[in-house]
Amino acid sequence: MNAAVWNAIPAALPTSIRALMHAPVNTRLVVNGWVRNVRRQKRYWFAEIADGSSGQSLQIVAPSLLAKEGDLPITPGSCIKAFGVLQRSHGTGQELELLADDLQVTGPCDAGSYPIQKQGHSDEFLRTQQHFRLRTERMSKIMRLKSKLAHAMASWLHSQDFVQIYAPSITEHDCEGGGEAFTVSSERRPDFFPKDAYLTVSAQLHLEIAASSISRVFSMAPVFRAENHQTSRHLAEFWMLECEMAFCDTLDSLLNFAETFLRESCGLLSREATEMDDESRSRLLTTFGRPIPRISYADAVDILAKHPESFEYCPQMGRDLQSEHEKFLCDRVFRGPVFVTDYPAALKPFYMKLNPDSQTVACADLLLPGMGEVLGGSLREDRAHVLKESMERKLSPAACESLQWYLDLRKFGCSPHGGFGLGFDRLLQFALSVGNIRDVVMLPRTAGAIKY
Ligand code: 4AD
Repeated sequence: MNAAVWNAIPAALPTSIRALMHAPVNTRLVVNGWVRNVRRQKRYWFAEIADGSSGQSLQIVAPSLLAKEGDLPITPGSCIKAFGVLQRSHGTGQELELLADDLQVTGPCDAGSYPIQKQGHSDEFLRTQQHFRLRTERMSKIMRLKSKLAHAMASWLHSQDFVQIYAPSITEHDCEGGGEAFTVSSERRPDFFPKDAYLTVSAQLHLEIAASSISRVFSMAPVFRAENHQTSRHLAEFWMLECEMAFCDTLDSLLNFAETFLRESCGLLSREATEMDDESRSRLLTTFGRPIPRISYADAVDILAKHPESFEYCPQMGRDLQSEHEKFLCDRVFRGPVFVTDYPAALKPFYMKLNPDSQTVACADLLLPGMGEVLGGSLREDRAHVLKESMERKLSPAACESLQWYLDLRKFGCSPHGGFGLGFDRLLQFALSVGNIRDVVMLPRTAGAIKY
């Protein structure tokens, strides 16, 4: 028994199944949960219940009289409350069980019409039942691991003197360089904002304000992109973990930091998330446990151009890499993750720092096998005159005007700085080897449909 864990349980809420696994036998308890299975024998009745607090379920054993058919509609999916005593299980498959002396059905469930059936369902079917699919073992586990990953990343960043910043989701700018922005229309409330605003595509520009005072900052927040990509890795709303660091003056130091961040936070997750399977653990370890190779965009295109027969779109200098090219680099060339660095300035947003060659920018995308880009970052242009020129070349006069504050940051005590954005849902999708990003998100938003 782990007394520390057991005693720490707040009395205000009923005991969770995760916590009661640490309680001593013979403890009297009240347990709540949703029924997974029911089995009736002559003298005893058995139900497996889960409450999502961990991957573990609890067996409830009750004298058959107590759970008489018809009197108590205890069916798969129903929500029940059991009163009883924790005991060592007489059966196999579980260490502890609750011997119940009273049972209540707090939420009956019509087994015939309940969409979640015991035999399991395809991912496609479960996507039509998003208000129920978290009740499956697989989806509830994904949600718990997602929560633990966010916690691991935040706690490691805090240990490195990072401060979490809560930037706004509504912004004046639609030019952050992260794809199409959704408009927050002022049509119906013309008195509200004096002009159209946008849902943010990235917190980066706002984080740069914070980094110019607090040095090391991060944000973990939803971002929105009105792109019609019907792929297994694109969402219209997704969560991005963004770091922005003052006093970061070389691309190598930025990438060293990104590498350490991924290694340490994924390591923490692997150690602490006991329900993570060995395959995921080893995928994280092999991917992030060793230094990640770096290749410049120009060298990558040179390599790719030698294999034109492998592609639908021929790789060409000055053109963006297609996902088939990214896949080739990871799967065939590096057989693992790779940072592609120093893209042509023309392919990248206005804020990236121009390299001494005046052609490329100090940036990198991290590509993962089977996934493609999961992280994008750069040094930020900190020279006011170079930034101004880049803005004037790439942005509309109105956008330049509204970004005067961004230029000001360069004029008053600017430090060399840089940062990156990590696709949080994509990282989880990769870690757990989930085929479609829609299945690591509770209520995914994609073009063409809005429900819930
Ligand atoms: O490369 P992106 O567009 O970077 C930025 O927006 C920078 N301003 C971030 C920064 O430097 N602070 O996006 C970052 C990551 C991508 O690498 C990808 O993993 C993920 O966000 N991403 C998406 N994930 C799901 N659905 C989409 N539509 C995504 N678009 C980008």
